Amino acid sequence: MSDTPHPARQFASDTYAGVCPEALAALQEANRGHVAAYGDDPWTPRAGRLLRDLFETDCDAFFVPTGTAANALALAALCRSYHSVFCHADAHVQTDECGAPEYAARGVKLVPLDGRDGKVEPPPVRAAAAKRRDVHSHKPGALSLSQATEAGTVYGADELGALGDVARELGLRVHVDGARFANAVASLRLPPRRLTWEAGVDVLCFGGTKNGLAAGDLIVFFDRGLAHEFEYRRKQAGHLMAKMRFVAAPWVALLESGAWLRNAEHANAMARRLEAELRRFPEVQVVYPVQANAVFVRMPPAWTAALHRRGWHFYTIAGGERLMCSWDTQPGDITAFVDDVRGAAGWRENCSTEKSEGGRS
Ligand SMILES: Cc1ncc(COP(=O)(O)O)c(C=O)c1O
Repeated sequence: MSDTPHPARQFASDTYAGVCPEALAALQEANRGHVAAYGDDPWTPRAGRLLRDLFETDCDAFFVPTGTAANALALAALCRSYHSVFCHADAHVQTDECGAPEYAARGVKLVPLDGRDGKVEPPPVRAAAAKRRDVHSHKPGALSLSQATEAGTVYGADELGALGDVARELGLRVHVDGARFANAVASLRLPPRRLTWEAGVDVLCFGGTKNGLAAGDLIVFFDRGLAHEFEYRRKQAGHLMAKMRFVAAPWVALLESGAWLRNAEHANAMARRLEAELRRFPEVQVVYPVQANAVFVRMPPAWTAALHRRGWHFYTIAGGERLMCSWDTQPGDITAFVDDVRGAAGWRENCSTEKSEGGRS
């Protein structure tokens, strides 16, 4: 095995992938002449109509450039500055947003909760809400869930419904970080309404960047009262994009063509394939159920180091090596990675996985 970096595509993140053909064609199409700015283009209202069709309800949707902006501004819309937000300890809002929700909501407090497989469960939410509640503490205001989770698992409709019931009972608003919402829908094969407003979700941050777009996520308010004056909040935060057409048009293309779901289905299928290949190695432990486009594994540290030397990028997070599949992951990428795992393990090169199971050197 040489130490020359070689992979064309990586498993480091679904944000490493480029723009999918449908979105690229839409960018070209939108790039004609002069068009009114700040959302007064033909595509932004069309995206709004498509989203109302997709969710089968009268929702309000706003584009922002990043998932972090979506989460931060959505939580700011749900919470007052003295509120707290219950979330999983590994939630992106808690671990990876540099305090953006606290910043946008001017003092809101995130309360991290433990939970199996990256999921928030009702008992810790109840326990956290039952703690000291006097004026010197903070007032529970919202529950934030990631769908799919940071562990690559998904909440089923029943799990969401139960969390929605607890939230209602405790007077909490429900926010969903759906940076990978498409992967969750593809995994569960349920109508999006079942995973959102029917389950008590007030606001969904619907990710496009990880699903074949260059940039631009959506904040979808199912309780439209929460969207009151939201356009001012977005502008004040510096997230009203002048050339909105270049975010709206690719979204329209994803929604109209169905590519939003196809891309996610493909990424999920690639993750299942990668999982199946890696399970052939007794030294590799799959950490979480593979339900979306992430595979978390533990393997001998020497293997991880050898794979990195070989040019593979991936991160050690949430208790494992995270391998993410994307809309453009190819079976050949998986073969190349697994070949290098085999090489790292010291198995004979150039033999099939079946043969090499008995053929370690
Ligand atoms: C679950 C989750 N939420 C939100 C984000 C934030 O997205 P962005 O990097 O566009 O701010 C990410 C990005 O990795 C993510 O994984």
